[in-house]
Amino acid sequence: MPSDQYLDCLQKFLASSLPKSLFVAHPNDVAKPSFMLPPEWETWWDWAASTPEPWVELLSYYVGQRPCSNIPSSLSQLIDNVKVLQLTRSQGLPPVPAGDGSQSHEIQYANTDTGRQAPRQGMSPKKQHEVSAMTAHITQVLRTSSALKGAHHVVDIGAGQGYLSWNLRALGMHVLALDSSAIQANGAERRRSYGKVSGGQGSLTYKIAKVTPNSLLQSVDEWITALSPTAELHPPSVVFVALHACGSLTADILRTSVSAMRGSNGEKHGWTLKAAFVVGCCYNMMEEKDFTLYSDVARGDCPLSPSHLQLAAQVPSTWLDHKAQAAFALRKVSWRALLEVATTESDSTNGCLTEKRRLGRVNNALYQRWDQFLRMSLEKMHKIPIPGMELFPEKLVRLEKQLSTLHTLRCLLGPCVESFIIWDRYTWLKEVSECGTYFEVHLLNLFDQSQASGRNILIDIISN
Ligand SMILES: C[S@@+](CC[C@H](N)C(=O)[O-])C[C@H]1O[C@@H](n2cnc3c(N)ncnc32)[C@H](O)[C@@H]1O
Repeated sequence: MPSDQYLDCLQKFLASSLPKSLFVAHPNDVAKPSFMLPPEWETWWDWAASTPEPWVELLSYYVGQRPCSNIPSSLSQLIDNVKVLQLTRSQGLPPVPAGDGSQSHEIQYANTDTGRQAPRQGMSPKKQHEVSAMTAHITQVLRTSSALKGAHHVVDIGAGQGYLSWNLRALGMHVLALDSSAIQANGAERRRSYGKVSGGQGSLTYKIAKVTPNSLLQSVDEWITALSPTAELHPPSVVFVALHACGSLTADILRTSVSAMRGSNGEKHGWTLKAAFVVGCCYNMMEEKDFTLYSDVARGDCPLSPSHLQLAAQVPSTWLDHKAQAAFALRKVSWRALLEVATTESDSTNGCLTEKRRLGRVNNALYQRWDQFLRMSLEKMHKIPIPGMELFPEKLVRLEKQLSTLHTLRCLLGPCVESFIIWDRYTWLKEVSECGTYFEVHLLNLFDQSQASGRNILIDIISN
């Protein structure tokens, strides 16, 4: 499927009536007695209330464990569309539209040799998996790509605690680790990776700086000048890396990399950008300017609402592997929504005595028992309890199942939203590379979503 057609298909799917109705309806609004059931939900609303675990039926169908006969056809069709449209996410393979049999699943740089490793102190197994995979990939590309021959300077953007920076420094690279957060820098300092580390080849410089397209180039200029005063004569080759660059940071890095590789900003630097390796995250923190990047996707026709961006981070394919955890997460969403019923009934019986206060955070332990959760929540919101509500009456039992079904359906759309964001970036990069004249661009599922973050897609840009 050509990439522009893929974007078009995703856009049409997300804008079609059932997905659209799911995005606009947050469970909290649906539990309000004034909520009008959208016509698209009539085929599954009663099914959800009368099925013991409707969300398990949906997920089992999604992962191919159960036949579609257990669920209404409108929902099996919705899931079929998601399965065809979402990008594949197998570690070590490029993500492609799942229904696209025409593209070969060529392994790119799949490599488990992580070389010399950084100190593991303080790193979770999840982080270790991510950092090892990113180090292995960068090492492999540095070894094999002719464009990167002689590249010994790496800028780790949004370096956090500096784990990846440490690994790259251990490979003999000169590393500039940039992060806007002093808290992250302090963590890095605790691990003695703060400041300039010397000894052997390479170095590590940690700098607290908020990265914007302008400040990024300036920070690199200053670093290169300090490190190699003769850089003007022999401009070093520089590589950008970013592991889980939040929200706008990913788009800013991509834009800066493109203009540096195309030489389009007209500025001269004492270094040359040779590659960028970027894994994004936190789509909910993106600004409007960051989506869409590809000009042919008309912004007006495809507004991604805050709900779309929140749901883009969902990885429903792993839910059944941690069923109790998933059930608990659904309970939290549903019970918070059920409070709408309890507070509305309280107001209609007692009058609206006070303005409703926000519930805010609730301790996880309270979600073990409905009566305790209800009592504490109503107290927090300054509402009077309604007798009998603490017994979890039948109408709440039914509504809880409907709300958890709704939330599951919303989350099942998440992979398509994320695919849309990723493919928009990829299509834009392909376009501005001018058929590879300036750089090559590749996508790769860098790590295993079941072991690490769901945000596993790496964007590689390598200069030509
Ligand atoms: C999700 S963390 C990833 C940290 C690290 N790369 C890792 O994988 O462990 C994102 C980091 O980016 C930093 N960050 C976000 N926006 C930034 C910006 N505009 N400039 C510099 N750092 C930024 C945050 O402070 C945070 O440490």
